[in-house]
Amino acid sequence: MLFTNSAKIETTRLTIRLVAHDDLPALLEVNSNDNVTRHLPFDSWKDMSDAEAWYERAMKRHEAGESWQFVIVLRETNRVIGTCLLFRFEETSQIAEIGYVLGQAYWRGGYMREAMTSFIDYAFNEAGVRRLEAEVDPRNAASCKLLERLGFVKEGVQRENWVSKGEISDSNLYGLLRKEWSVATDAVL
Ligand SMILES: CC(C)(COP(=O)(O)OP(=O)(O)OC[C@H]1O[C@@H](n2cnc3c(N)ncnc32)[C@H](O)[C@@H]1OP(=O)(O)O)[C@@H](O)C(=O)NCCC(=O)NCCS
Repeated sequence: MLFTNSAKIETTRLTIRLVAHDDLPALLEVNSNDNVTRHLPFDSWKDMSDAEAWYERAMKRHEAGESWQFVIVLRETNRVIGTCLLFRFEETSQIAEIGYVLGQAYWRGGYMREAMTSFIDYAFNEAGVRRLEAEVDPRNAASCKLLERLGFVKEGVQRENWVSKGEISDSNLYGLLRKEWSVATDAVL
């Protein structure tokens, strides 16, 4: 078990905690925006039934120990402004993948870098992860830049690795090792 239900990470401006059913209306606002979902592996949510279906899948994956879905709360307003997750955890190799989504109104405020700095710290130091990976559409400049600022190394391009929204695309594979992390945090903070 990587995370307990009480897992909670506090950063300067944000709280990161496991998703709850009450978060769905705020998450509908985030995920109903085509600009937000452009490079995500799901279509924009249309209504609460999409939110409920997503939540049901997330809960099944929690129970199976496959992935942990968190929300990012802006403490000043107590508003859920995004999500992050740890998934594809391989216990033997201690590898996991990260993903993240932020509501468009909050882009470029340094929020995801702040959230990911503490989330990665938690994954490496508390949750038993040794290597973190991220797969990103090369056209997703914001996500590529964020990962590079966090110290991830671009390890290659997986050609025609995705079919999303009817379109074939490559994906950049990024990796970050626990043993590199203290060096990386020194560099980015
Ligand atoms: C990717 C995403 C989470 C970035 O969140 P954010 O809070 O805006 O990012 P930050 O403000 O922390 O910025 C991190 C770095 O990326 C840079 N950046 C952010 N948006 C950028 C953009 N559109 N183009 C180029 N660089 C960008 C920032 O300047 C910053 O670099 P710096 O520290 O050198 O200035 C956000 O754009 C998002 O949610 N996108 C939609 C969902 C998505 O694509 N998720 C990732 C799927 S792989």
